[in-house]
Amino acid sequence: MNYNLLKGKKGIIFGALNDMSIAWKVAKLAKAEGAEFILTNTPVSIRLGTIDQLAKACNAEVIPADATDTKDIANLVTQAKEKFGKLDFVLHSIGMSPNVRKKLPYDKVNYDFYHKTLDISALSFHKVIAELKKQDAMNEWGSIVALSYVAAQRTLYGYNDMADAKALLESVARSFGYIYGREKKVRVNTISQSPTLTTAGSGVKGIDGLMDFTDRMSPLGNANAEECAQYCITLFSDLTKKVTMQNLYHDGGFSNMGMSYKAMSQYNKSFDKNITD
Ligand SMILES: NC(=O)c1ccc[n+]([C@@H]2O[C@H](COP(=O)([O-])OP(=O)(O)OC[C@H]3O[C@@H](n4cnc5c(N)ncnc54)[C@H](O)[C@@H]3O)[C@@H](O)[C@H]2O)c1
Repeated sequence: MNYNLLKGKKGIIFGALNDMSIAWKVAKLAKAEGAEFILTNTPVSIRLGTIDQLAKACNAEVIPADATDTKDIANLVTQAKEKFGKLDFVLHSIGMSPNVRKKLPYDKVNYDFYHKTLDISALSFHKVIAELKKQDAMNEWGSIVALSYVAAQRTLYGYNDMADAKALLESVARSFGYIYGREKKVRVNTISQSPTLTTAGSGVKGIDGLMDFTDRMSPLGNANAEECAQYCITLFSDLTKKVTMQNLYHDGGFSNMGMSYKAMSQYNKSFDKNITD
């Protein structure tokens, strides 16, 4: 069911690679809710992924931009303004760690890769918001959302330097949310999403076991990509105008769980003192 929540709203959606991407689901739902938007990704992701299919289905233009490159971002925001005038929403759905890709553990990371992780997954959020503000590209009460993960607060085996990137990403949302809210009434939030089977998600060591664990531990079960898109739409809508500077958990309750009855029973059955990781 659609509610016309984004009727007449204009935006930019970063990060749709293929039909598993969270950004893909957000684009489909934003379209169904009445929005118009530009889709963007890196030139290589546009070439290797299937964003053109999404663009066709959503009647959206694709403008390539590497979100770590301030010139690319400036060009993207300028073109979006020319096309739409001011914007109402922006989704930052970007994450990548070369250390995770190369399977280098956290205590043996490559520092050039570490810089890249932080630049792609967190500083890019700062760069995008800074450019939107510089070009005065957002309408009052506009909404900027990035996607995060609970590893920003808690240690989860295998998440590696992406945990540090997510902590920084959430901090950028608070710091910029204060400035942009105070000066232009623009909202900035992060959604902390359940583990989700996407291209980025599959790169995390032990993702299947992790997804099973969080699903069983959460009273409502894991949130999937479609449900994440629904939450994003509420944050882009006028129904959440006073929500800003927040990290909002969208995880079926996982982040507030300590121990469940099921997990305790399983733990008692399978305790193995040789496991130290
Ligand atoms: N999948 C999960 O388990 C999960 C859980 C919580 C949060 N998230 C976050 O959701 C967001 C979207 O990831 P996803 O799971 O949909 O995976 P995905 O692989 O579909 O999306 C990641 C996107 O980042 C883009 N990207 C990488 N480098 C970029 C750059 N330099 N400039 C612009 N774009 C770049 C990729 O092209 C890709 O489209 C990420 O921030 C991710 O960390 C994912």
